[in-house]
Amino acid sequence: MFNINKVREDFPILNRKINGKQLIYFDNGATSQTPKVVIDTIVDYYTNYNANIHRGVHTLSQEATDKYEEARIKIQKHFNAKQPYEIILTSGTTESINIISSGFSSILKKGDEVIVSALEHHSNIVPWQIMCEKSGAELKVIPMNENGSLQLDLLDDMLNENTKLVFCNHVSNALGTINPIKEIIEKAHKYGAYVLIDGAQSCPHIKPDVQELDVDFYVSSAHKMYGPTGVGVLYGKEELLNLLPPYQGGGEMIKTVTFEKTTYADLPHKFEAGTPNICGVIAFGVAIDYMNSIGFSNIQKQENDLLEYATEKLQKIDGLTIYGTHNKTSIISFNIKGIHPYDIGSILDKLGIAVRTGHHCAQPIMDFYKIPGTVRISLAFYNTKEEIDILIEAIKKAKTMLS
Ligand code: ALA
Repeated sequence: MFNINKVREDFPILNRKINGKQLIYFDNGATSQTPKVVIDTIVDYYTNYNANIHRGVHTLSQEATDKYEEARIKIQKHFNAKQPYEIILTSGTTESINIISSGFSSILKKGDEVIVSALEHHSNIVPWQIMCEKSGAELKVIPMNENGSLQLDLLDDMLNENTKLVFCNHVSNALGTINPIKEIIEKAHKYGAYVLIDGAQSCPHIKPDVQELDVDFYVSSAHKMYGPTGVGVLYGKEELLNLLPPYQGGGEMIKTVTFEKTTYADLPHKFEAGTPNICGVIAFGVAIDYMNSIGFSNIQKQENDLLEYATEKLQKIDGLTIYGTHNKTSIISFNIKGIHPYDIGSILDKLGIAVRTGHHCAQPIMDFYKIPGTVRISLAFYNTKEEIDILIEAIKKAKTMLS
């Protein structure tokens, strides 16, 4: 049974006061908060077995290595990858995407085409633009609709034998739209194009099954999944990861080094140069255990209830527009007529409520709606209807002050 009071006790930060008010944390899309079991794991690591991995003969190094590789297996199971070495541990979604875009920069050539959706975060746009500049490939964009969905019927006309890659997020960070990724993957595969799905905003809400999706690359970040910052995952099909060149050179990613020739390590180490975020990866594994102990059906039910409740209340505020209304996770982006989103965000902060304002690193979406930005609330399963009631009163107050 999902017990909200008990769940909230798992998150010490939720007891914080901001400006004398009880913190209400509605910026989970930027980073989720950290349960005590994950915080304890970080303390335990630095207290008891802090050591470098894969290198030491000594006990601490063995312990750290075992826990790090156990975490990789937890992550493999969570994403249902076929092999543990198809899970590359990175610093976050951005690095995961850059590993792929940088690899394909030397494989693609002029005449090749790649397709991105209009709903992307800058981190799933800019790396591909750099790749296209380097390789001469052409970048095409699947347009969006007013309700925040993609114009998928147009994808059929955009795909052809020259299409090599398609990139799309599973969930839009700015609007919350859940994209029909299985359909996108199937369409792209008909033309032999590979697909990368950015799961940064989906993984807190949805457990992806990479084999069932038949996706080629799936990327995400620990810090949106109740884990620490600075850790991410890159899932890639074995044959594709083997096809790509290494991203960074350094220790740990080699088999042999001489001044004449270096040979590279097998997967996953080929893509894990240098000392990784050992503690962070171990803590990520614990965060995954934590999410599974809450249960994704409980997470989704609580978040969908909150989404419905908040949407209904917000819609009653005069002059308030919600952007993105199509098949969503618990993200609500809105503006109030005549008021800059930053001003609303600042007043909400004075009242202890954390939201994100601005373009949310998704400027093309803001350009589509012809707005500078939005106020975004992104809800997690530890949020409550009482917190939403306080938000609604705070927005009304901000509106009165700023009108
Ligand atoms: N990409 C994160 C967000 O949407 C930081 O807030």
